[in-house]
Order: sequence, then C-alpha cells, then structure tokens
Amino acid sequence: MKKIVIASIATLALATVSMAAVNGNACMGCHGKHWEKKALGKSHVVKDMTHAEIATALKGYKNGSYGGPMKGLMKGQVGRYSPADLEAFSHTIGK
Ligand code: HEC
Repeated sequence: MKKIVIASIATLALATVSMAAVNGNACMGCHGKHWEKKALGKSHVVKDMTHAEIATALKGYKNGSYGGPMKGLMKGQVGRYSPADLEAFSHTIGK
C-alpha cells in the first residue's frame, strides 16, 4: 500500500513537471532546430531576438497583446504554459 501511494505521488510530480516546462521540441517544426527559420515564412528569426523580446512575444501571444497575422497560431502553442514558464523558457533561447 505504502509503495502504491509513493508511486502515485511520483507520477503526479512528473506529470506536473512535464506540463510546466516548455517543450521546445514542439516548436522546431516551424522555427527550426536552432530557431534559425522564419516560421511559415512569417515570424522573425527567433535566434536573432533577445531574451527580453522573446519573453514579450511569448507572454503577449498568451494574453493577446502581441503578434502579427498569425498570432492565433502562436496563442495555441503557448496557451497551456504559465507566464513564469514562458519567461524562464525565453532565457534559454535567442541571444
Ligand atoms: C505551426 C508552426 C509553429 C509552431 C509549432 C510554433 N510557432 Fe512560434 N511562430 C509561428 C508563426 C507563424 C509566428 C508568427 C506569428 C505572428 O504573426 O505573430 C511565430 C512567432 C513566434 C515568436 C515571435 C517571433 C516574432 O515574429 O516576433 C516566438 C518567440 C515563437 N513563435 C516561439 C515559439 C515557441 C516557443 C514555440 C513552441 C512552444 C512555437 N513558437 C511554436 C509558427 C509556429
């Protein structure tokens, strides 16, 4: 019994972590493996953006304050993450 409880707590903790951290792999199809592409020919090249610009973009897509003609698409990409997660992720990409 004790084992089962511990196992389910561990599973829960794992699930929470994987939901929280932004999964960069999901972005590469459009943005390129090294963020070197103009996604669908429309976006800026993210690797040339600063961390601050990326943070503004990602949080802005989520709350509707940022974006171009295809912002609806990016809202779908970042909607499940918290602003804090997006902020943290923005420091791991760009320049
Ligand atoms: C289906 C293709 C697609 C996927 C997947 C995708 N993006 Fe985008 N991304 C776009 C497009 C198109 C734009 C430009 C949207 C607009 O009009 O503002 C964009 C814009 C951006 C921008 C801002 C660039 C600018 O032009 O200001 C950032 C940062 C970004 N995406 C990060 C991400 C991250 C992080 C993920 C994964 C969680 C992701 N994208 C997944 C297509 C995609």
